[in-house]
Amino acid sequence: MQEPSDLCTLHLDRFKAEPAIFAAPGRVNLIGEHTDYAEGFVMPAAIDFATLAGISSRDDGKIVVYSENFKEERVFNVLALPKTATKHWSDYPMGVVHILSGEGQVIPGFSLSIWGDVPLNSGLSSSASVEVATALAVTSLTGITYPGPILARLCQRAENEFVGASCGIMDQFISANGAKDHALLLDCRDLSFKLAPIPESVALVIANTMVKHSVAGGEYTTRRAEVEEAAAVIAQHRPEVRFLRDANLDDLARWGAQMSPSALKRARHIITENTRTVDAADALIHHDLARLGRLMAEAHISYSRDFEASCFEADTMVTLANDLKGLIGARLTGGGFGGCTINLVEREEAEHFAEALGASYTIETGIVPQILICHASDGAHRVH
Ligand code: GLA
Repeated sequence: MQEPSDLCTLHLDRFKAEPAIFAAPGRVNLIGEHTDYAEGFVMPAAIDFATLAGISSRDDGKIVVYSENFKEERVFNVLALPKTATKHWSDYPMGVVHILSGEGQVIPGFSLSIWGDVPLNSGLSSSASVEVATALAVTSLTGITYPGPILARLCQRAENEFVGASCGIMDQFISANGAKDHALLLDCRDLSFKLAPIPESVALVIANTMVKHSVAGGEYTTRRAEVEEAAAVIAQHRPEVRFLRDANLDDLARWGAQMSPSALKRARHIITENTRTVDAADALIHHDLARLGRLMAEAHISYSRDFEASCFEADTMVTLANDLKGLIGARLTGGGFGGCTINLVEREEAEHFAEALGASYTIETGIVPQILICHASDGAHRVH
């Protein structure tokens, strides 16, 4: 992982000013996929891969943003902040600046250096970690700070309204509010949450299929539209149903024929996934790892067959994991269509599991995966 002291040196060299440094983690979702924008339940954990943001003020009315990952700098004028995205990495920090400014914050000139080790476009929320790190950094200069849940909502708005990706609240929420050694069961309706301890004996093994994933891409948006179509059909009969969170399988049995066949399948995934996610939190809290593993396996099948958000590589990664010693549960995590699988593995088997999974995946697909053994980490904070 990149060290805060390295970012400090880099920032000092480039901007000749000592930065304050903030870290915001990426995340892995244990269960609860595409349920966040249906006002349902998710259970992610923050991971020990993060974006660091170093900030110092400037008095020339400029905002200078530098990414060490892209080795590129962009300059903006505080009096003419961009109002639209440019399909560039700077959209993420500048989207946050745009939203903060819209909230009435007076944005001063600043230099911001960003450096992250969350794998990009892999379903581990590198974008949310950039947004949350930027929001903490910028609000440290304005002096107007926000509690974690509100900060998360502002960062989600940056992504929805500026970047143009129709994501839910999960990624920004866990990046801002994660807790070391815990998963977090979030009710995406009212943002109330419960922490579920991950036992010391359990390792989070993240396996990157190396198939690229993008939330801004068409498939995510299509799925979201189908989920909303299903909710709208049920609402014609039961107006109290605003989101699929409020619906049940009886609703699908009665009115599913009025939906497109794909909306019906998406709805079945969301409704059953909400139940599984609440059950999985209960299983984790009660140390019932066998039940948790079964729920993860069912969640993967539902995500793959009903939500049709998996792909050959992700299904292969999950199938191969199922045959390995030490596995508790495996499923595709994140927005879908590639990215990573999450494997809960008995810690003493984790190294061997990771090696065996990587080798068999390469034999099956010809792709060399990236396999990360992670720990659940704290949410965003100041580090320097
Ligand atoms: C992406 C989005 C989240 C969520 C997941 C799917 O990560 O950013 O809001 O919808 O996909 O669970």
